Amino acid sequence: MTRLLIRGLAQLATPAGRSAPLRGHAMGSVTVIDDAFILCNGDTIEAVGAMANLPRLDGELEELDGRGLAAVPGLVDCHTHPAFAGDRAHEFSLRAAGATYEELLAAGGGILSTTRATRTAGLDELRELVERHRGWMRANGTTTFEGKSGYGLDRETELAQLRAIAEAGGVPTWLGAHAVPPEHADADEYVMWIIAEVLPDAAKLAAAADVFVETGTFDVAQAQRYLEACREHGLALRLHGDQLTEMGAVGLAVELGARSIDHLESTGPAGVATLAASDVAAVALPVPALYLGRPMPPARALLDAGAIVALATDFNPGSAFCESLPVVLTLACTALRMTPEEALCAATVNPAHVLGQADRIGRIAPGFAADVVLLDAPDWRHLAYHFAGDLVHTVIEAGRTAWRRA
Ligand code: NIG
Ligand code: FE
Repeated sequence: MTRLLIRGLAQLATPAGRSAPLRGHAMGSVTVIDDAFILCNGDTIEAVGAMANLPRLDGELEELDGRGLAAVPGLVDCHTHPAFAGDRAHEFSLRAAGATYEELLAAGGGILSTTRATRTAGLDELRELVERHRGWMRANGTTTFEGKSGYGLDRETELAQLRAIAEAGGVPTWLGAHAVPPEHADADEYVMWIIAEVLPDAAKLAAAADVFVETGTFDVAQAQRYLEACREHGLALRLHGDQLTEMGAVGLAVELGARSIDHLESTGPAGVATLAASDVAAVALPVPALYLGRPMPPARALLDAGAIVALATDFNPGSAFCESLPVVLTLACTALRMTPEEALCAATVNPAHVLGQADRIGRIAPGFAADVVLLDAPDWRHLAYHFAGDLVHTVIEAGRTAWRRA
């Protein structure tokens, strides 16, 4: 097995300890080692420490010079919509001129316009598109990504999206209940149909199920029917909730023991308290809030109350055409009033927990996957501090260089 030694790193930063998920103030604790090394053995980290403590290493060894670079764990994006065709540049213009996201969706645009474009793409084109989007994420330091379907809303295209995501190395989430396509009478009938006709096969391809609980898409009762059926098929549960309207999604997430509820731009103090007292992770998505001119999710209040908080891009062609977790971290430390330490934990350990992989990814520690991002910066906090900076230098996945800045 190939051993790789990354030596002489200006700094290494990783969430402290080994437990997951981290909640509330425990998210403020990051271990920082100056003049550090990382030793990888095959796809796994073997040892980490200060150069002064580097043991004598015999045998074949590849070396990577870390001088002037800071290392953080490979970033984990637990909420993306990468399996889409076409774009929504035209709607971006309309919104800039005053149209709202809800108006565009109600007029058959928004999610439904991307659905029309995605239905015309076959599996091969979807594979290429997801691979392309995955490349954009990787160049921004994302080593693990979750990807949702939800732009097919018919049997064949939903399954093709899940396949394309899995083949690109993503963790597939079935977002069958994203919007009601025009060939169905209403949300009740559509939910019945996807449970009967798509779920049995989607459950073989996906790790989790997701639903968009919102006015004009699915109400709490419809979401409950869909999620309970998905749980019976062994899927973990996720929700898009409280994005535009607070309508009971938090209560449902807690009642069903969901892995996460994502968005939360409209969540009030009662929802914050309910989430903080639960094991449901709160996934804050500052990019769609910024994009759609909505209030920011209450990440600070959630942290102070002791919730499990994660961050994600929500990469999609409508509300968040942004694949960069470093940009999300900058927004977290400015608009969400999180510290860089909290933001790092929210982009590594906690999203790893949301994906059910916290024992393997999200930390630079012995026994964890050798997924590491090297930053062209003397201090790891530049990851959030350098707004949209070109600072990702090298991305290591499973002990191999997966991407290097040209
Ligand atoms: O998370 N809110 C629902 N779904 C996506 C947006 C999808 C789209 O607009 O295409 C989101 O923001
Ligand atoms: Fe989303």
